[in-house]
Amino acid sequence: MAEAKAPYQRGGSARDASFEEAGLRFEVDGEIATITLARPEKRNAQTFATWSALAGIGDSLPERVRVVVVRGEGPSFSAGIDLRMFTPEGVPGQGSFSSVARQDQDTFDKGIERAQQGFLWLRRPEIVSIAAVQGHAIGAGFQLALACDLRIVADDVKFCMKEPALGLVPDLTGTKPLVELVGLAKAKDLCLTARIVGAEEAFRIGLAEQVVEPGELAKAVQEKVAQLLSTNRDAAAATKRLLQGAPTRTLEEQSVAERTEQAARIRALFAGS
Ligand code: ACO
Repeated sequence: MAEAKAPYQRGGSARDASFEEAGLRFEVDGEIATITLARPEKRNAQTFATWSALAGIGDSLPERVRVVVVRGEGPSFSAGIDLRMFTPEGVPGQGSFSSVARQDQDTFDKGIERAQQGFLWLRRPEIVSIAAVQGHAIGAGFQLALACDLRIVADDVKFCMKEPALGLVPDLTGTKPLVELVGLAKAKDLCLTARIVGAEEAFRIGLAEQVVEPGELAKAVQEKVAQLLSTNRDAAAATKRLLQGAPTRTLEEQSVAERTEQAARIRALFAGS
């Protein structure tokens, strides 16, 4: 059987996948970047090429971008990992889990690390990321939505952390934001049952900031983008740094961090006045 090939083995050291092989579109319009999962006929199933291309976008995101929208074309945001990975043939050019299973630990680790990089950059303080989620967001699709700062969902949304049902763990950086959003007990409930979470529950437990009718999703996202762009760029980045650091700091440490950020802000705003 063929060994797993690029992009799983690239580990970020060579070319990342092209948008075409990744099933993605990427557009930048001024301060707004939009990533579209663009394989609706396969419910935007994701491959290692998808994650490698996402990581590449993170590496080269233009500095002017302040808001990143992640959306999926068609009825589903994303049906998760491409199930061909579970077959002996795998995904053409990318191998299968049975070939990945024979990789040495270092290659294996680097491959997953590069895939995770495709998700992690969406939390950078300099940007705010919004997932626009309709229909199914399963497994890797759920984790991609979790990687974003905010989730605006259509009322037909169906979140599902299906990995444990398939013998896997969620490893695309989704476990920490899930626990932070819904708490440990609810995260265990969702992951260990692999049950579907609809819009009402998603809103109630903090998985979604806003629920709208499917036809209103694009408009709701546009309005949120406008609100986000109405604040000061540097103050927004500093505030996001503060908020993201808060859970791991004591109140005293957080107070110090607030003072430090504010001193930098006031000096920048009033320098020379
Ligand atoms: N991988 C590959 N192909 C997929 C996937 C997937 N994850 N999901 C859907 N497709 C394909 C189907 O095979 C079908 O292809 P075909 O038209 O060539 O037969 C096409 O997309 C449409 O799928 P349907 O099932 O017909 O669409 P429907 O809207 O009825 O159902 C649903 C959508 C519920 C998402 C269903 O497709 C499904 O259950 N998919 C698998 C979900 C899954 O288990 N993902 C893995 C999660 S674990 C992880 O991500 C690590």
